[in-house]
Amino acid sequence: MSNWGHKHIIDLSSFSFEDYKEVLELANRFKRLPQAGSRKLPALQGRLIATLFFEPSTRTRSSFELAAKKLSADVQSFSPSSSSLSKGETPLDTVMTYVAMGAEVLVIRHSSAGVPAQLAKYLDQKNKKVAILNGGDGLHSHPSQALLDLFTLTNYFDNVNNSPECLFGKTITIVGDILHSRVARSNLWSLTGCGANVILCGPKSLLPEDFVRFAKEPPSDQKDDPIIKRGDITICRSLKDSLKKTDALITLRLQKERMSENLISNLNSYHHEYGITHKKLEWCDKAIPVLHPGPVNRGIEMSSKLLEDSSICLVEEQVSNGIPIRMSLLYLLAATNTN
Ligand code: NCD
Repeated sequence: MSNWGHKHIIDLSSFSFEDYKEVLELANRFKRLPQAGSRKLPALQGRLIATLFFEPSTRTRSSFELAAKKLSADVQSFSPSSSSLSKGETPLDTVMTYVAMGAEVLVIRHSSAGVPAQLAKYLDQKNKKVAILNGGDGLHSHPSQALLDLFTLTNYFDNVNNSPECLFGKTITIVGDILHSRVARSNLWSLTGCGANVILCGPKSLLPEDFVRFAKEPPSDQKDDPIIKRGDITICRSLKDSLKKTDALITLRLQKERMSENLISNLNSYHHEYGITHKKLEWCDKAIPVLHPGPVNRGIEMSSKLLEDSSICLVEEQVSNGIPIRMSLLYLLAATNTN
């Protein structure tokens, strides 16, 4: 019996441990389906899902569209370059156009933080039975990426039950451009929410001290934190010290398009200090998996050789896991929507 209570998915700050469990359990079932021979489920037959990406995307958008198709939904996608945005139409008008066409779930990506939340609020005020799923907004949040990262980690640590319980007490390091990363922010909610302790590692210009307080309180528009005891967040500037303690590593792209000033003067010295290579992984006291949300700047945050070493680097697995995770999210939102 589902206890799902979210009409929209904007951020993971409001996710309870049960929510993580439910998304992962469902994703696990979807992931195993092709092996059982049934390639498409009729679950969302005749339902319209629209992907409105006001900012470019390769993985996230195609992954959502594939996920929707695997649930037999009708999928409509929107490209800013060939749309009426160039004629002055606002994102709200675009959204209302898709709502009028009968879309039930809108997956929205926008370069400004807060746009999916504002649109959700507007639709609720108008009593529209449409769900907003945030596909990434500015620096704020990228819930589906963090959930597929969580799924990839639980698969790694416990591929039988795949339950988020296996992360309890584990140490996960996130290294790189944390300041400009919506993925890291969503990872912080989900990992600490499942009881993992997070080490944040990077230079001061990309990782301000106040990130240690990140998940201490829920956002101002949220009443309380559904997680009773979150894992800890610490900052460690030394990659060597972080790697010694960690059970898994998430690396991040240097998001130059989101930097208002030039925060990294020399990419070679960044790679030297924080770029991940096979050699640096020898500092770990055990074999650890390396994740990256993509797109990867080869030779900057990670060496090409490591990126192609699938015994350590789980980037391909993350991409594959994105489909069952997004099937799970679309299914939960569309199912709630009929109530
Ligand atoms: C991320 C994003 O767009 O936030 N990529 C993704 O969705 N897979 C991370 C990034 O841009 O570096």
